[in-house]
Amino acid sequence: MENIAVSVKNVTMKFNMSKEKVDNIKEYIVKLLKRQLMYTEFTALDDISFDVKKGEVFGIVGLNGSGKSTTLKIVSGILKPTKGSVQVFGTISPLIELGAGFDHDLTARENIFLNGYVLGYSKDYIKEKFDSIVEFSELEEFLDVPIKNFSSGMIARLGFAIATVVRPDILIVDEILSVGDYKFQEKCEKRIADMMAGGTTVIIVSHSIEQIQRLCDRVLWLEKGKMKELGEAEYVCGKYKNQ
Ligand SMILES: Nc1ncnc2c1ncn2[C@@H]1O[C@H](COP(=O)(O)OP(=O)(O)O)[C@@H](O)[C@H]1O
Ligand SMILES: [Mg+2]
Repeated sequence: MENIAVSVKNVTMKFNMSKEKVDNIKEYIVKLLKRQLMYTEFTALDDISFDVKKGEVFGIVGLNGSGKSTTLKIVSGILKPTKGSVQVFGTISPLIELGAGFDHDLTARENIFLNGYVLGYSKDYIKEKFDSIVEFSELEEFLDVPIKNFSSGMIARLGFAIATVVRPDILIVDEILSVGDYKFQEKCEKRIADMMAGGTTVIIVSHSIEQIQRLCDRVLWLEKGKMKELGEAEYVCGKYKNQ
């Protein structure tokens, strides 16, 4: 077990979805009280099992809605699976919805502290890393601007810079390499590559199959919430491209 970073065993995830459309909150509450709301269960993940080895770069591919983000959220502990178990050995840093923890009325400077606290960093630690976060995000001139005035690329830069200031044992990356401009994507890829070289375990989802094939050792292919293939990157990506 000592060379395992993440172990996912027989994970099933079901979501409850309301069958009917409710127009407003009052109608919703009335229906809720009268128990007239009908729910339908949707299985987003069906009996998924895989291990990720320490230091491995593990990719997940599949069409939209196949369950990639749900898998990453379960591994990160953001969602609890309906069935099955997940074990994580080491510290984990999820790059999932960059900037999800930001308060848009606050400035970039305030959000660095806020988001740092959310990620469990101390005030002194954030102060120590403040300059390097600002430098990486290239927002020197906008530090005291409320981030509601920022573009999505600027927000992603700030979120990425904060989340990667510590080197976690396990890095989770969901599609973030598709936000921002080309130059920033290169910068992110380089920082992730540095972490990989330093032995960080990486689980990555990208819509670019070329990027997955280039970066990953092994790949899991999900189809409608089920495991379609699991194996060497070359093999799985080759099959995925030829489907
Ligand atoms: N909170 C949720 N409530 C209901 N359905 C959800 C929720 N999150 C995801 N789903 C559904 O689960 C399926 C898998 O979603 P997701 O994991 O985001 O797929 P992917 O990242 O591969 O595009 C989709 O059909 C999606 O609509
Ligand atoms: Mg997704």
